[in-house]
Formats: sequence, structure tokens, C-alpha cells
Amino acid sequence: MAFPARRLRRLRRTPALRRLVAEAQVRVDDLVAPLFVREDISAPVPVPSLPGVVQHTRESLRKEVRELAGLGIPAVILFGIPARKDASGAEAWNPDGIVQVALRDLRDEVGDSLVLMADLCLDEYTDHGHCGIVRADGSVDNDATIELYARAGVAQATAGADVVAPSGMMDGQVAAIRAGLDGAGFAETAILAYAAKYASALYGPFRDAVDVTIRGGGDRKGYQQDWHNQREALAEIALDLDEGADMVMVKPALAYLDVIAAARQRFDAPVAAYHVSGEYAMVKAAAERGWIDGDAVALEHVTAIKRAGADVILTYYARELAERALS
Ligand code: PBG
Repeated sequence: MAFPARRLRRLRRTPALRRLVAEAQVRVDDLVAPLFVREDISAPVPVPSLPGVVQHTRESLRKEVRELAGLGIPAVILFGIPARKDASGAEAWNPDGIVQVALRDLRDEVGDSLVLMADLCLDEYTDHGHCGIVRADGSVDNDATIELYARAGVAQATAGADVVAPSGMMDGQVAAIRAGLDGAGFAETAILAYAAKYASALYGPFRDAVDVTIRGGGDRKGYQQDWHNQREALAEIALDLDEGADMVMVKPALAYLDVIAAARQRFDAPVAAYHVSGEYAMVKAAAERGWIDGDAVALEHVTAIKRAGADVILTYYARELAERALS
């Protein structure tokens, strides 16, 4: 009788054995919690398509961030919902714009015990919902836009951001923001570049959370990446690193594990992955119907992102995961 010499099941026999030989494990230290803060509201507003996620008031944001720090989460990333939107998104660089005000609150609240990141884009602030200046023909003007990104970056750094995270996918945005920061005396402010950000259909719930509708039923395919392509993502990442990015991001995560793995192999900088709103909402929705075990799927998904090579994971599950024993 020919028994196999190598028996892989031996090391799967008990939970302790499995723990001992586990290759990839998500740590609370890997997690970044995305948070929304909205101007002119007096109580937190739940986001129906993101169960458990709210638009925060300044006060409720302070409390949430204090609790996240207490749970050991090392970083948060802020998104703002301004009271006024206009064609150029001026609230993005207003020193008293909602994200800038919130950054000052949080720095005061938690000091250096937590990394404060700010999403750097214009779509939450423009009345047309695009990530930049829209020309008469409807296209987005790359070079006019990146000047505004530089201003927003300086406003965020001035307000206390440790890391600014440009997500608009304009060419040259990292170089423009780096130059703006250095010129204003913020050489130590880091840039997390949304380097390989795809024009994904998985951002729907996020757009509910930030009250963004792209005017005229438009989309972002003229600036975000085409999801048919992997090599192009590596070109995006290489350019962003050349321009001075300190960390790079792949977004979304689960449908792009190949991109995360390739980025991890090719580059030495920290690779972040954004487990986006649609990825979270799908699990929550199926779990609500009793069709899957939501907690189990969440951990399996986030661990897959880590196993593919992500060093940093942005996820709406950050708090829930930190509250559980991760294994
Ligand atoms: C743009 C931005 C988006 C997300 C993060 N930054 C939306 C978009 O590109 O349309 C999506 C995040 C998510 O879906 O969770 N400011």
C-alpha cells in the first residue's frame, strides 16, 4: 500500500498547530480606519449602504478616534463632507474646511499616538462630483487640478496631517503635492499615493457616504485606471514612487490581489490596499440575510489581502477586527 510520505494534514490537526504555522496574519497594527466627518450636522448620520458606518460630527469623530486609539488601531483616514460645494472644490484647501478643522481637533485629542491621514481629492468638494477642474467639453483638466491638490495638501499638513493621500489619479499629482509641501515647510509630511486606483463599480456606498453624484451620469474612466490592466498599475506605482510617494496603494483590494502581489514583489516601499465600501457592503448585506457568516468572511477577506502582500489595509472593518481576537 502506497501511503504518501509527506502528510500535510499533520500540521492542521489542532488550533495551536495551525496557529504556529500560519503564514499570514492580520495585525491590528496593519489597519487604517476610514472615517467621514460632515459639516453642519448636530448628530451622527448613519450611511444606509454601509451598516455600522456614520457621517460624524466633530464631536462624535473625536470620541470615535479616541476609542480606535484605545483599541490599538494605529491610523485613521479622514474624508470630509462640506456644507458648500462649488466648481473648483475650494473647501478642500480652506484652512477652516471641515477636514482641516477635524484634523486640528484630533491632533489635540490624541497627540502623536495615532497617525492622522487625510484623503486628498476634490470630488467631495465639487458641485459636479469630479475629482478636478472640469473643462467646457466635460473633460478634467489635469494640470489645473494638481495645483489645487498642492494647495489642499498644504492645508491638510498645516492642520496636522501626518500623511496626505492623493486619490484623484491625475498625472503628476504626487510631484505637485510634494513640491507644495516642501515649499511650505512640510518636508516631513508623508504621501500615501492612491497609485493604482481603478475605475471600479465598488465605490457606490462610499459615494452615498460623501454625498457625491457625478453630474450627468458621468464616470471617472478618463482618470482612474481601466480594470482590464495589471502592467499599467505597475507603471502608475513606479511613477508615483519617482515623484516622491512614501507609500503606495492598490484599490480596490479583493478583485486586485494580483496587482497587490505584483506590487509587493517589484517595489520595496510599503504597499497599502483599500478594502473599499462595496467590498464591505456586500459582506454586510449577505450576512444580514443570513447567507454567510459575516465575521468569518471579513477575516478571511482581510487576511487574503495581507497574504497577497499588503503591509497596510484600509478597511471599514478596522474597528470590528480590533475588537475581536485576530486569528
Ligand atoms: C475619492 C475617493 C473615492 C474613494 C476613496 N477616495 C471615491 C471615488 O474614487 O469615486 C472610494 C472608497 C470606497 O469606496 O470605500 N475621493
